[in-house]
Amino acid sequence: MSLKVFRVLIFLILLVSSIKRGTCLNNGLALTPPMGWLSWQRYRCNVDCTTYPDECISEKLYRKMGELMVSEGYHAKGYQYIIIDDCWLAKERDKDGKMQADPDRFPNGIKSLADFLHKKGLKLGIYGNYGTETCAGYPGMMGHVQQDAKSFSEWEVDYVKIDGCNSDPACMDRGYTEFGRYLNYSGRPIVYSCSWPAYQEEEGIAPNYTAIMNTCNLWRNYQDVQDSFQSVKSIIKYYGEQQDIYAKFAGPGHWNDPDMLVIGNFGLSLEQSKLQMAMWAILAAPLMMSVDLGNVKKEFKEILQNEAIIAVNQDPLGIQGRRIYKSCQPAFLPSIEAGFLWNQLSANGIMRCQGTENTVEVWAKPIAPVDGNYYSYALAFVSFRTDGVPYAFSATLEDLGLYSPKGYIIQDLYEPNDIGFPVVGVETAINIKVNPTGVVFLRAKLQNAKCSKKNPKSEHPKNQTSTGNQTTVHKFQFSPDIFV
Ligand SMILES: *[C@@H]1O[C@H](CO)[C@@H](O)[C@H](O)[C@H]1NC(C)=O
Ligand SMILES: *[C@@H]1O[C@H](CO)[C@@H](O)[C@H](O)[C@H]1NC(C)=O
Ligand SMILES: *[C@@H]1O[C@H](CO)[C@@H](O)[C@H](O)[C@H]1NC(C)=O
Ligand SMILES: *[C@@H]1O[C@H](CO)[C@@H](O)[C@H](O)[C@H]1NC(C)=O
Repeated sequence: MSLKVFRVLIFLILLVSSIKRGTCLNNGLALTPPMGWLSWQRYRCNVDCTTYPDECISEKLYRKMGELMVSEGYHAKGYQYIIIDDCWLAKERDKDGKMQADPDRFPNGIKSLADFLHKKGLKLGIYGNYGTETCAGYPGMMGHVQQDAKSFSEWEVDYVKIDGCNSDPACMDRGYTEFGRYLNYSGRPIVYSCSWPAYQEEEGIAPNYTAIMNTCNLWRNYQDVQDSFQSVKSIIKYYGEQQDIYAKFAGPGHWNDPDMLVIGNFGLSLEQSKLQMAMWAILAAPLMMSVDLGNVKKEFKEILQNEAIIAVNQDPLGIQGRRIYKSCQPAFLPSIEAGFLWNQLSANGIMRCQGTENTVEVWAKPIAPVDGNYYSYALAFVSFRTDGVPYAFSATLEDLGLYSPKGYIIQDLYEPNDIGFPVVGVETAINIKVNPTGVVFLRAKLQNAKCSKKNPKSEHPKNQTSTGNQTTVHKFQFSPDIFV
């Protein structure tokens, strides 16, 4: 049998078996959102190791971050992938067309780095680009997909992030799928992170999320995060606006990826850092730090290592949370009057909102434990207001779509010692204050829930209006002292 015929045959067999197999990529990986560290946001494409020996993209940097991930306690909290981004490659492939790491900056090669990290109990991720060149101008994978999948597997890489610069987004359905097949043929379980939908959305092509979910463990939907609150806010807004389109595609083994955590760097305040961490937990987002792990101030490290919040992110049900409420702020009204207007508008449903900037929002993520028809929930009360006062907010659990007659145990995940509401019935008002550009992050855990449900997802809770639709929450009680 010629090689060509053989390949066609394999392809047909795969096609048939994939049709039989059903919908999701089935490599057994990323059953909860992957957690780790990724170099791009903090270290970019710094290749000048003479001037910046500690910050340039080099094996030294990744070894050091691997050591710090363990010694600074991140690994113990669940972070495990150390991921190389763009600019690690030599400018040319070798004489056989094989990609190679820059020999000056990676003198021992990628396999040796993988070995080093594996000995520490960590995993190695690496960057490739489905295009003629990477975004920074290094060799792309176009024309080499099979060879490159083989190289990644030979080097014992555990995770690949495949970017999409310098290629036609219309051809990505084919290209990313093809590379995924070769990854699978390699026999090594490798997490597959795709930038495919982000490039298509940018071009105005509606991504085929069914195909993406069949192919990738995670995928970027939107722009790169930058080290600023404006950037983090625009990402959160985007995921809120688009949630009906793709929140449903998230689940164990396949995740929407809003990009890295920028916590601990220069651009986010403490409140804003808490907000990003809470929201990435709500969104069931991959938790990829991008910061100098040796220089994270204590209070920021506490955010990154908050076990209760990581547990929300890593919840085994793997349901992406949704925005269930967004306030309205018509631009022409001063804020106080606007506040009273929100009150009236909320009675008519939130679709009347005109302003979308300085909103107050509520986000909810169904989590375990589950009890019969009821989920537990993580609830994020988020304020994008910048006018300098904490925003008072009052709602009953019932208002938020939580109906278990046995009530819930409420915990503030940023104030674990503050047991404000140990057990709350669904009609009790919860009064909180959210700081400007901040968050209050609560967990509402079901009372007396059995934690040992083997497969809670199969018992789909029926009476949970807030999982589906932000228009279903309609009766918030705003307290009279709405502005303090
Ligand atoms: C390849 O795909 C098959 C079918 O989905 C799956 O059972 C297997 O675990 C995959 N192997 C790897 C290494 O990803
Ligand atoms: C999307 O992808 C799925 C799975 O690959 C395929 O069955 C379906 O036809 C595609 N939809 C469109 C609109 O191309
Ligand atoms: C859900 O539960 C609430 C409170 O018990 C009840 O008022 C409502 O009718 C229920 N909705 C559905 C769809 O069963
Ligand atoms: C949300 O509710 C609106 C109004 O009832 C409805 O048109 C829309 O289809 C719903 N979306 C989902 C995802 O249920």
